[in-house]
Amino acid sequence: MKLLEAKHISHHFDYPLFYDVSLTLHARESIAVIGKSGSGKSTLLNIFSTLLKPDEGSVHLFGKDVSSMTQAELTRIKRKELGIVFQSHYLFKGFSAFENLEVAAILAEESIDEALLEKLDIKECMPQKVTELSGGQQQRVSIARVLTKKPTIIFADEPTGNLDKETAHVVMDLFFEYLEEREAGMMLVTHDEELAHRCMHVYKLQDKKLLKVK
Ligand SMILES: Nc1ncnc2c1ncn2[C@@H]1O[C@H](COP(=O)(O)OP(=O)(O)OP(=O)(O)O)[C@@H](O)[C@H]1O
Ligand SMILES: [Mg+2]
Repeated sequence: MKLLEAKHISHHFDYPLFYDVSLTLHARESIAVIGKSGSGKSTLLNIFSTLLKPDEGSVHLFGKDVSSMTQAELTRIKRKELGIVFQSHYLFKGFSAFENLEVAAILAEESIDEALLEKLDIKECMPQKVTELSGGQQQRVSIARVLTKKPTIIFADEPTGNLDKETAHVVMDLFFEYLEEREAGMMLVTHDEELAHRCMHVYKLQDKKLLKVK
């Protein structure tokens, strides 16, 4: 089943970032996007996850063109189907780690999975304020928050940038387990080629093109 299909996407800000980007994400698939800082990886994820409208091209989610969706449909999809791990964590700062997960669970009408907290080794820090957590703990809480929603597509932008190698692999294991369990798909942006190559497909943003490298 096709979860996401992007066709001929182009985008620019102050200068052109990329042209004619096309790709498809199926259920149980993982796609990594690598490329130099500033090449437009986060911008591409923002386009795929409906947060940004591309200059040209189309994005279909679950078989429907995003540009033809009503505001209500977009809101539902963002709330229920898409899980976005942002490059900077975007947790609610005044709240505890637990409250951050609670908000996600309530909005998505799902429950918090204790086993997930154990696997991410963040059970102990649940009562703490987000601002008291280390960078890596914040990163793991934001991953837990996204998985708590039980999304059908995970968009993860450098989700392991603040983690040691071992913990980064634990997070990747968890993602892959999740994809199998929920028949979900994942688009991962990373600078870590080793982690990228654990994904089924690897693309590289280079010379304003998205090239398939695996
Ligand atoms: N909202 C915006 N307005 C203007 N320019 C932007 C905006 N978002 C990104 N850019 C520019 O687009 C270019 C690509 O940014 P983007 O964040 O997509 O790169 P990236 O590949 O994710 O980089 P990094 O690896 O450092 O995260 C940069 O030059 C950036 O300044
Ligand atoms: Mg980025």
